[in-house]
Amino acid sequence: MKKQEYIDIWIWAGLSIAQIEWVLCSILGIWKKELFLQHEISSKHIYDAQQMFFKLASWESEEYLLETANFYGRDFYVDQRVLIPRNDTEVLVSIMLKKLLRDIDIKNMSYIDVGTGSACIPVSVILEMHPLKFEQSFALEISQDAMDVASENIEKYAPWKIELRESNLLSGVFHDNFSEKKLCISANLPYIKDGDYANMDASVVRNEPNRALYGWAQTWFELYKELIKQCFQMKQVHKIEEIHLFIEIWFDQKQVSQRYLQEMWLSFEYFKDSSNIERVIYITNF
Ligand SMILES: C[S@@+](CC[C@H](N)C(=O)[O-])C[C@H]1O[C@@H](n2cnc3c(N)ncnc32)[C@H](O)[C@@H]1O
Repeated sequence: MKKQEYIDIWIWAGLSIAQIEWVLCSILGIWKKELFLQHEISSKHIYDAQQMFFKLASWESEEYLLETANFYGRDFYVDQRVLIPRNDTEVLVSIMLKKLLRDIDIKNMSYIDVGTGSACIPVSVILEMHPLKFEQSFALEISQDAMDVASENIEKYAPWKIELRESNLLSGVFHDNFSEKKLCISANLPYIKDGDYANMDASVVRNEPNRALYGWAQTWFELYKELIKQCFQMKQVHKIEEIHLFIEIWFDQKQVSQRYLQEMWLSFEYFKDSSNIERVIYITNF
């Protein structure tokens, strides 16, 4: 049988074009751009392809197997060392862009993304803001494994624009000399609390890195509280005049966050996702 006949059968069996292309490239050892060429398909190739299709079916997270996830219109390299970028996080990026392009003066402002994972947030924000740019931009991450993935994406999209650093929250930039007096900070930190672990989707628990998802905490907000404390310290130590912090929260976490932000006398604004649930907080007045 010819290659196209197999492709027709696989489409008929319900496989997507992306899955078929990826499997064909893997078994034939070719690049995607070479797929249109004629290739001999042996019975060994077909056996290998079937094994891969079984794997695809059992993995459930197609992005990990295909090693790519689309976020804000760009393909990011992903594997099991990072969280698969979520549509929810695109809400965070679009809120940031609206604020940064319309309401905030970004002159003399540096940008820091905390818990960067695949680096999908800083890459998207920085490329979408072009030609406007920050003085300096940092992507911070605690996991060395995740940093290896982030560096691939930064290298691909914005090698000279984003500095990647190992860091526990803001510790990695704490001793930098910020001559600019304004900071924009984004964070999508782990926010699944202890009790929710059992209710997670099985494919998420099995495939995605624990460190990216679970706060190992009572209220989930502990990590963000620590980040907020560090923002106050940054402001004091570096005499920062303005800090604009954007964070993503879980759907049941409005109350606990609101109470804390009020206690700290911060100004804040909640933003809803397309399901009308508050998922992003913009925090100022540190
Ligand atoms: C929910 S994932 C989000 C990844 C990426 N920002 C995104 O939106 O797809 C959280 C990330 O924060 C990192 N992380 C967890 N604790 C951290 C800490 N204390 N400091 C810095 N990064 C941390 C994890 O390794 C993980 O990559």
